[in-house]
Amino acid sequence: MEQAKLFMNFQNGLLQGQAVQTTQRVLKDLKGCFSDSEAFEESDLSQIVYEVQIHARETEGKEGGLFWGVSCVYPGKVGNEYFMTKGHFHLQRDTAEYYFGIQGEGVLLLMDESGKCRGEKVKAGSLHYIPGKIAHRLVNSGNGNLLVGACWPSNAGHDYGSIAQNGFSKRVFCMDNSPKLV
Ligand code: F6R
Ligand code: ZN
Repeated sequence: MEQAKLFMNFQNGLLQGQAVQTTQRVLKDLKGCFSDSEAFEESDLSQIVYEVQIHARETEGKEGGLFWGVSCVYPGKVGNEYFMTKGHFHLQRDTAEYYFGIQGEGVLLLMDESGKCRGEKVKAGSLHYIPGKIAHRLVNSGNGNLLVGACWPSNAGHDYGSIAQNGFSKRVFCMDNSPKLV
């Protein structure tokens, strides 16, 4: 019998094994995402906002395969707005995805193509089904790292352009020390 080749540590979200790739997004990569552009320009634009590890066993675009990933959104704010991911629709619009909370506290913003947006609370053990045609963005509304796992079809692709153009219609701000969806 062979040993397992891929491991996920469900405590700290670390993926280990072949074909695990890590990407980082620094604040500069999120230009235009935050409402307070003055606070954005005054921030350290080289700080890491989030990291994504992906088990990329398939090439992007391949039908019938899956990707598995773990995102870590670091705690922080631009003005009163919490650190978040860029967010995207899938390029193949009608492909779904699962997200699951591993550690920390956050909000999953879900927006349909008409711009109707809602937020689901994310915490350790929470499971989130994201149907096709729904844009999704993670917001870290806690004081520690927000770790979230995900599984999605390898032909889904990512459309960041629509979000760069129109944004999400709701944002999560820190008001009186707690997260508010505005
Ligand atoms: C994959 C997916 C996640 C995100 C990750 C980073 O379809 O939804 O793995 O890619 O949370 O967020 P983005 O891609 O919006 O920078
Ligand atoms: Zn996605």
